[in-house]
Amino acid sequence: MKRTMALVLAGLLLSASGAAAGPERVAFPAGYQDTFVRYLDIDRPDRKTKRFFYVNPAALEAAQAGAPLPDGTVLVMEDHPAELDGETPRRDAEGRFIAAPEVRNVFVMEKRTGWGAAFPAGKRNGDWDYAWYDATGKLKHSDPARYEGCFNCHQSRAERDYTFTFFKYVDDLKR
Ligand code: HEC
Repeated sequence: MKRTMALVLAGLLLSASGAAAGPERVAFPAGYQDTFVRYLDIDRPDRKTKRFFYVNPAALEAAQAGAPLPDGTVLVMEDHPAELDGETPRRDAEGRFIAAPEVRNVFVMEKRTGWGAAFPAGKRNGDWDYAWYDATGKLKHSDPARYEGCFNCHQSRAERDYTFTFFKYVDDLKR
């Protein structure tokens, strides 16, 4: 009887939290290029890469209103190779890299109420979890060990809700 109860409880817990912690529960945000707001482009000369950053509109609205990033917030960082002249990135009239159409990486961070409880305090990044996709929405890595670096590095941004670029954009909008 006790065992049955324990099994039922375990089942309830699993269904309440959805898929297990890790990249699989961070769904590929299909259509983000059309439905999200592209809030920033940066050039990465070290990688000859141009990065585009996107946020779902509800999260941007909340942040602009000064509210915490809500359940369901998704931030996307998309890598494009820079167009090259030989080995040198080509530049537009403003001196910025020009993105080639190809998408090399789609890095995703998603925040869901309760997600962080799956991680020990030293690793936990609030309620965020991370995934690294290719352009077609296939996970590049499903091994959770490949995501330790995401948690470690983004942890340094705890006071900005674990994000590097997003709140700078929100602050700049207010100026
Ligand atoms: C060594 C530090 C480091 C690691 C490891 C790292 N990131 Fe980041 N991440 C950054 C920095 C810095 C930025 C800002 C963009 C830039 O400078 O290129 C960023 C930006 C992002 C963004 C855009 C939102 C934001 O915070 O600005 C996402 C999404 C993201 N990273 C996901 C990931 C994922 C997924 C992983 C693991 C596969 C990961 N990151 C690993 C440092 C890191």
